[in-house]
Amino acid sequence: MVLGIVKYGNKALREKSSPVPVVNDSLRKLADDMLETMRAARGVGLAAEQVGRLERICVIDIPDGCEEPEDAMFNGPIKMPLKLFNPVIVAHEGSQYDKEGCLSFPKIGGAVTRAAQVTCQYVDEENRPQTITARGFLARAIQHEVDHLDGILYVDRFSAVERLAVAGKLKKLARENGGVR
Ligand code: NI
Repeated sequence: MVLGIVKYGNKALREKSSPVPVVNDSLRKLADDMLETMRAARGVGLAAEQVGRLERICVIDIPDGCEEPEDAMFNGPIKMPLKLFNPVIVAHEGSQYDKEGCLSFPKIGGAVTRAAQVTCQYVDEENRPQTITARGFLARAIQHEVDHLDGILYVDRFSAVERLAVAGKLKKLARENGGVR
C-alpha cells in the first residue's frame, strides 16, 4: 500500500523515533508499505517519520548502476532492499561530499558532507541482529535515513551558502506543510 509522504514543515519530521521491541507482522507490513511508497516516489530511501510514524524503521533500495564500481564491489555482500529496524551507526570513517535529495523536500537539493564509510547495526525482519559496513552512495543513504530517525534533516547539514541558496524555497515549503522548521 502506498502511504502519504509528509513534507518539510510537518512536525513528524522533527520527532525522534523509538526503537521497536520486536519486529512483528504489522511492522513487517509497515516496512513493505514504506518500500512501495519509496519506489512509487522514485526514491532510494525512506524513514518512518516520512510516513508520519515514530517507529525506528527505515528502508533503502539502491538500484544497480547508481554506485561507483569500487563501492558496488565493496557493498556487494549487502543485499537490497534493506529493511532496517532499530538501526544505529556504530562506526564511520573518511568523508565524502555530494548532492543529496529527500522525498520530503520536493525540488530542493544540495550537497552534504557525509562519512565515506559507515558500520550500521540493526535488526532484520526476522529479528536477527545484523551488522553491515557500507561505502559511497549506500553509506550516504544509511546516514541520511538514520538522521531522519533522530529528527535530523539533510538541510541541517547544508553549508551556510547552500542553505542561503534554498532559504526561500524552504520557508515556502514549511509554511505549506505545518510550519515546523
Ligand atoms: Ni530524506
